[in-house]
Amino acid sequence: MTADQKQPNRGFPKHFLWGAATAAHQVEGDNHNQWTVWELENAKAKAAQADFHLHDYPTWDKIRVEANMPENYVSGELADHYHRYKEDFDFLEKMNMNAYRFSVEWSRIEPKEGTWNSEAIAHYKDYLEELRRRDIEPVVTLLHFTLPVWFAEMGGFEKRKNVKYFVRYAEKIMSELGNSIRFIITINEPEVYGFESYYLQNWPPNKSSLFKVWRVGVNQAVAHRKAAKVLHSLNRRYRIGIAKNTVYFFPGDSAWVSRLSANLFQFFQDDYFIRKYIKHSDFLGVNYYQSARLLGYRVHNSEKLDYSDVDWPLAPADIEYALERLSRKYKKPLMITENGLADADDEHREWWIKETIIGMQKALKGGVDLIGYFHWSLMDNFEWAYGKWPRFGLIAIDYKTGKRTLRPSAAWFGRVIKKLKD
Ligand code: BGC
Repeated sequence: MTADQKQPNRGFPKHFLWGAATAAHQVEGDNHNQWTVWELENAKAKAAQADFHLHDYPTWDKIRVEANMPENYVSGELADHYHRYKEDFDFLEKMNMNAYRFSVEWSRIEPKEGTWNSEAIAHYKDYLEELRRRDIEPVVTLLHFTLPVWFAEMGGFEKRKNVKYFVRYAEKIMSELGNSIRFIITINEPEVYGFESYYLQNWPPNKSSLFKVWRVGVNQAVAHRKAAKVLHSLNRRYRIGIAKNTVYFFPGDSAWVSRLSANLFQFFQDDYFIRKYIKHSDFLGVNYYQSARLLGYRVHNSEKLDYSDVDWPLAPADIEYALERLSRKYKKPLMITENGLADADDEHREWWIKETIIGMQKALKGGVDLIGYFHWSLMDNFEWAYGKWPRFGLIAIDYKTGKRTLRPSAAWFGRVIKKLKD
């Protein structure tokens, strides 16, 4: 069945959430957190190393100029979403969306330890009010990779005794933002944060220690558990989860090594982490960007696949298998909290979304309790270590003028959502 066929709801539940996602640091502009400090310290070096790291990307000719500029690696003002959110929410309406995932920036709420910034709190209250006015269901993320500088300086999640600061912030912000919210994501991709920051040396604090990856992982799981408990005591109706980055691993042949490797890769990608969180979660957020085919003990994807601008293989249909596996194993409602691709020319996005919709329909038909889909991202944004050149947005941003333009694939997606909701 294709997404365009005219059948009622086409297999999607009545209150299915159709939306897009962002994260504060990637869109707001003018933040001050551990990332902004790191950006300023590293921008020149990153620009100088771009040729070395990125020259074999399929898009290298297109991205070369931007990737060689230090400004690319400094988030700065971005598209000033912090002030222009109403305009950006107009686009959600234009695309017929009924949901939006965003993150609250902890460093704005608590710029100094124990000091709450009432202006920032008022800002997020107004932000939510604007969504409500438009009948858009908010999904709030409390931590999306960025930490207040004071928290990072005291060791962040490396130290168990610091967990209490996150829990206190979670309680404070949710008691302020209150009861109109149903869905809360405590932590976005805890394991990605651990590896990028404490092993791969791509993100602050740029350490390389497997012990620290493990320790930060354990402390984040404790932070989730404690925050979930406190938040549920504020409001039993909150539905709390994490957003987990998944990759679907599958054997490319019937050899036992390929099958064993696919299982092992899957376990260390997903289950090793999810089992720490799932008992204390009401749903599981799934961020799906790619799958990987194992031949023997190596990833060897099909030569037929296309690649996104950040060189990720494009296999959107495999989302079906990822959803079916997670649903079978964890028996919780699933929400696709991120899904999308870097595609500056909007060459593959429409096809990607179409394949994803079909994958979701198949998963739903197979009994998966899928409650929503959030495209990453509502708008072009700051893509962490890569900086500003990757273009993940349904809305294209001109960073010089701040001009927003709906990409053609997004206008198409909006029309499809309307049909799927009818
Ligand atoms: C993260 C986003 C990021 C996206 C694309 C996800 O892992 O949550 O912040 O922009 O992937 O890389």
